[in-house]
Formats: sequence, C-alpha cells, structure tokens
Amino acid sequence: MSRIVVQDKLQDKLQDKLIVQEVATRDGFQIEAAFVPTPEKIRLIDALSAAGFSRIEVSSFVSPKAVPALADAAEVFSGITRRPGTTYVALVPNPKGAERALAAKADEINLVASVSETHNRANMGMTPEASIQGFAAIMQTVRGEVSVNATAATAFGCPFEGSEPEDKVLAQVERYLALGVDGVTLADTTGMANPRQVARLVARVLPLVGHERLTLHFHNTRGCGLANVLAAFEAGARRFDAALGGLGGCPFAPGATGNICTEDLVSMAEEMGLSTGLDLDALIALSRDLPRLVGHDVPGQVAKAGRPLDLHPAPPLKAA
Ligand code: COA
Ligand code: ZN
Repeated sequence: MSRIVVQDKLQDKLQDKLIVQEVATRDGFQIEAAFVPTPEKIRLIDALSAAGFSRIEVSSFVSPKAVPALADAAEVFSGITRRPGTTYVALVPNPKGAERALAAKADEINLVASVSETHNRANMGMTPEASIQGFAAIMQTVRGEVSVNATAATAFGCPFEGSEPEDKVLAQVERYLALGVDGVTLADTTGMANPRQVARLVARVLPLVGHERLTLHFHNTRGCGLANVLAAFEAGARRFDAALGGLGGCPFAPGATGNICTEDLVSMAEEMGLSTGLDLDALIALSRDLPRLVGHDVPGQVAKAGRPLDLHPAPPLKAA
C-alpha cells in the first residue's frame, strides 16, 4: 500500500472517531446538594466502565470543606473495579491533592486553574499564578508516576470578568506544556462559548497540543453545548468531556449548570456516523436511574425522548 493510501486510511479513522470522557461522578456530583452515597458512586462508575468509556473522571481530591459532595474520593477510588483499557482520572487543585490522588492510585491527575483571576480566587482561593506554581511543584514529585492533564478553566469566558483574551488562554496552555503535562483541557466552565469562538481557539491550540492530547469541556448553560462540540470536532478536536444526564456545574461560579449530556452527545455522534465505542442503550438506562440518585430531574434529552430509531407503533388506520 502506498504511503498516501495509508495516510488516507489513518485520516478516515480519525475522522470517524470521537472520544468521550465521562465526568458525571466528578463535575456532576460536586454540585449536588444531596450527598450521593459512596456505594452508589462506585456502582455507577463500574457500570460506566462496563459501558465502554476509555476515560472516566472519578472524583476530586479537593478540600472536603470546599466540596463536601466529593469528600469520599479515596473510598471511591479504592472501591471501583478497574477495567483494563480505562483511565481513571482525579481532579487535583494543589500538591496536597496530588499526594492524595497518588495514594489512591489514580491513573491520571487533572490539574485545574482558571484563566480568570477572579474565578480562580473564588474556586481555589488563590491566583492562577499561585495555582500554576503549585502545579510546577507537583510535576517535580509525580514525574513518570502518573499521567498529568492540565485544565484551563473559564477559557471561553468568566461569569465575573466576561470574555478572556485568547492570547491569555494560549499563554496558559503554553505554560502547562512547558511543565511537561501529557494533556490539556480547555474548559467552558459556565457555558459562555459559541461555535465560532470554539473553532478559532481550537485552531490556535491544536497545533501546540495535538488532537490526541487536547480535550474540550463544555457546559450547556446557554444551549450551545453540542454546537460547540461540532465546531471543535470540525476544527480537529477529538476528545470531549460529558456528564451522564447532563449533570454538572462549578459550585464557585454563579449560574453554573450542567455539562453537555453524555448520552445526547453519543446519540448525535452515532447518528452522524462517528464511533464512540460506547453502549448507548446502557447509558440511557443509567441516565434514567439518575433522578433516584440525585433526587431531581436531569437535563438530558435522549433519555427522555428515546433514540431516534426507537420507533413508536403506528396509530391504527381510521375506517374510511
Ligand atoms: N485535599 C484535602 N484537604 C486539603 C487540600 C486537598 N487537596 N488542600 C488543602 N486542604 C486542607 C488543608 O489541609 C487545611 O485543612 P485544616 O483546615 O484542617 O488545617 C484546609 O484544607 C485549608 O488549607 P489551605 O491550603 O489554606 O486551602 P484553602 O482553604 O485556601 O483552599 C483549596 C484551597 C484549593 C484546597 C480549595 O479552595 C479547594 O479545594 N478548591 C476546589 C474547588 C473545586 O473543587 N471546584 C470545582 C472543580 S474545578
Ligand atoms: Zn465543568
């Protein structure tokens, strides 16, 4: 086979693949008023593993005072059954969190700092600079032991500061790469992004990070979530965070609402002929059980409407 044909085949494969990282038990549960019992969290993560996810963000090693809903992160990590081929990720804000995540044997740590100084102070109690200094210290101690992703939160806008200059986002990504991280996430923390903005920023960040290492994290706060996914996909991005049922939100951002909904994203991908490797029927069943876990209705739409091909029986013909 000629090199061009091989390249074309590789290109086709890339074109058709969309990777979903499930974040419901982290981003989703962190904002819930009612504590989801630890055994229920473990059961859900095991079921998500069985549904085929290659990446699951399990929990956060943050201050239990800041996020009581995830105070059981260590117990959750030790209780889950690890499926070979799945990367189990922990969100980490500072060196103490990294220490705890390593002790819990997380496969990957996700370091988070906001582009917005005001949001980082509200969320992490420090400036973005102080967060990144902490990440540098973490990189010194964890190098080689665990994979590291770094997230630029509020990359598409901040509820306190408004839109953030793209150059500022790029500068943060470059600092992460200089620290030697394995992956980078651009997060739209409060759903302020629009598809053209997404296409522009992805086009600038992708050459630095590469499609295997870049993740997009969208919230559907203003209804643009899946449109933003499509814009990012067409610009070359392939990895997306999503939460079952569309749960999610930052407890330290006013007006925060859910992530893009996993089963809605997977349904859209399948209808477009993109492969996710996920069992959509299993996801819908799990999503339909979420109201029992969180005590309220959840925003996801496909779990309510059914898959496009779940046909209804035709009504009887009226007598002429
Ligand atoms: N895990 C557990 N406990 C932690 C911790 C961590 N990663 N980091 C700090 N702590 C503890 C300290 O030991 C200290 O405990 P003490 O009061 O019993 O002595 C207490 O928290 C305060 O420590 P300090 O370093 O002063 O932190 P802080 O109060 O300024 O909080 C963060 C800083 C980053 C720990 C906190 O803001 C936080 O956890 N933020 C995460 C928010 C979040 O998860 N947002 C959503 C996801 S983006
Ligand atoms: Zn989020």
